[in-house]
Order: sequence, then structure tokens, then C-alpha cells
Amino acid sequence: MSAPDVTVAVTGAAGQIAYSLLPRLLDGTIFGARVKVNLHLLDVTPALEALGGVKLELEDLRLPTLGRVLTTDDQETAFTGADVAVMLGAFPRKDGMERADLLKKNCHIFAEAGKSLARVGKPTCKVLVVGNPANTNAAILARNAAPTIPAQNVTALTRLDHNRLNSQLALRAGARLDDVRHAVIWGNHSSTQFPDASRATIAGTPVGEALPSADDTAWLRGDLIACVQKRGAAIIKARKLSSAMSAAKAISDHLHDLLNGADDWVSMGVASDGSYGVQPGLVYSFPCACTGGGAFQIVQGLEIDDYSRGMMKATEDELAAELQDALAAAAE
Ligand code: NAI
Repeated sequence: MSAPDVTVAVTGAAGQIAYSLLPRLLDGTIFGARVKVNLHLLDVTPALEALGGVKLELEDLRLPTLGRVLTTDDQETAFTGADVAVMLGAFPRKDGMERADLLKKNCHIFAEAGKSLARVGKPTCKVLVVGNPANTNAAILARNAAPTIPAQNVTALTRLDHNRLNSQLALRAGARLDDVRHAVIWGNHSSTQFPDASRATIAGTPVGEALPSADDTAWLRGDLIACVQKRGAAIIKARKLSSAMSAAKAISDHLHDLLNGADDWVSMGVASDGSYGVQPGLVYSFPCACTGGGAFQIVQGLEIDDYSRGMMKATEDELAAELQDALAAAAE
């Protein structure tokens, strides 16, 4: 018996992350080597010609997993029957633009997307929001897609930050990447995020023993955190473009673990249920245990010291203000 198809809607599909992501959606890692992937690719009207070129290249990949490819500037068409939606398309911040204007534009885009997904997507659709401000865009989308699509089905990408943190720890310790466990991101996908290595182990050894020098201790609470928080800005400064290759890998990792399960905690922006005192309604990055089929639990019972509590609260406050501003701007 052949495996059923899966339909993946990708917005912002003519952009740079999509260019790295689309082959990953077809390489069998996320959905399996025998599953045909129908791609519903959405972008704005002026980008349709470029999107047509992307479609030609998808055909030229000659991948047996490629199903139907549809290119469109119509949201409803793109989301019809979607099992998974990857939301890359967002209004970019332009020179001289006020933050409130950016929040307003994106609030509108993600509110409409939420309504549309609820109308024509599958109620089981897993929605991953990447376009920035990703957590707040996800919170807006989730409000508008509910109750047809439950809030737990809407996540925001903080896996890139998670991967950055884990890579830096492995590099510092000279360890294999899969020997690093339990290093996670709390909060917003922004410079207030809290990259938390306090519970990390490296090849089973607590990070403080694996990296024991005074320099290491200072690095763990200082430069490591700043490096991960500012990594996106460092890449933009160097490349004059934001992260794309690593963002596409992170999206692939996020979807893989969400759909297939993971043997370590992963960081995902998810609707807060009040865990660790985080205000419900915010989409906040927590350590999550993925069990497959889109199911996950926020890891419970972690002890939070005063330093961590302060870091977690600062990024929560930013998210609360962002959501409030977005909703206020949208109501104007
Ligand atoms: P890009 O500018 O190359 O592509 C964005 C695409 O979205 C463009 O083709 C544009 O025409 C399209 N678009 C804009 N508004 C749209 C709408 N309303 N509907 C459909 N398509 C629309 O940007 P790139 O590099 O691909 O990044 C995409 C987003 O991901 C950006 O918002 C970026 O800030 C964000 N990002 C998030 C990361 C995360 O870890 N959460 C990491 C890296 C980027």
C-alpha cells in the first residue's frame, strides 16, 4: 500500500529561506522517503514570476517525493487541505518604519492567515510561524484560527536559536553535537531571549564539569548568551541578508521532531499554558518534549534560580508588550 500524500503550504515561498527549505521538505527526513509532498506555494503578486522559476527548479530536482506543486498569490488556494503550513511571508521592517506600523501590518497578515487556515486548512494542520516577529505573529494567528485549529497546533520557530546554543557548546567543549543535551531557549525570538545552558550535559557530564575553568564559567553566563542573542544581527551584518540556510535547517529540525518525536528537549515557541508563571496567550519558547504526531509537552518541574527567573521575565515582558501593541495597532 502506498503512503498517503501530505500537503504543505509555504508562504513567502519566493524568498530566500524557502529556497533552502523546499528541497529539505522533499528529502524524506521530515515526512518519510515514500510520502509524496504536495507543495502549495504562496507569495505576493509581484513575486509570482520568481515563484514560477522556483517551481521549474523543483521539477528539475527530480525527486520522487515531489507531488503536486501549486503557485499562487491567493491565501485560500494555498491553505486548502494543508496538513502543515510554514509561514515565512511577513512584512519586512523598512527604513524609517515605526515598530507599531510593523506590528500592525503583520498583525493583519497573520490574523487573515489564521482565519483562512481555519476555513480551508485541515483542523489537524500544524502551523509553524517563522516570519518575524515570529512569536507574536504566531499568537495572533492562533487567536484567529481557534477553535477550529487548536492553539497547540501553532508554534513559532526558536529552533535556530536552540541550534546556535547547542553548536556553541559543542564547539567550546570540543564535543560531538549529539553529545550536548538539555540546552534550551526561553522566551522571544529576539535579543531578549534567554539561552539557558545551566542544565546542559555534555556526553552525560554536567556542563559545569565539562567546562570547568573560571573562563568557561564566565563564558557560560556571559559571552555564550550574548553570542546566541546577537547571532542573527551578526549574520545580517556580515551577509547583508538574514540567516537563510541555517533557518531552513532549523525549520526542518523543528518539523521533524514535532512530527516524529525527539530524544532530547527541543525549544519551540508554543502557546503558554501558564507553565513557569508565563502569561497564557503568549507564544513563548519553552523546553519541550516532542512525542510525535504533533504532540508535545512543556517540560515541567525544572528548578529556576533567581538569575534565570529574571532573564525569563524580561523576555516575557517584551512578548506581553509586543502582543498588546500588535492588538492595539490592529484595533485602530
Ligand atoms: P525574504 O524577504 O527573502 O522572503 C520573504 C518572502 O515573503 C518574499 O518573497 C515576500 O514577497 C513574501 N511575502 C511578504 N509578505 C507576504 C504575504 N503577506 N504573503 C505571502 N508572502 C509574503 O525573507 P526570508 O529571508 O525568506 O525570511 C522570511 C521571514 O523569516 C522574515 O520575516 C525573517 O525575519 C524571518 N526569519 C525568522 C527566523 C526565526 O528564527 N524565527 C530566522 C530567520 C528569518
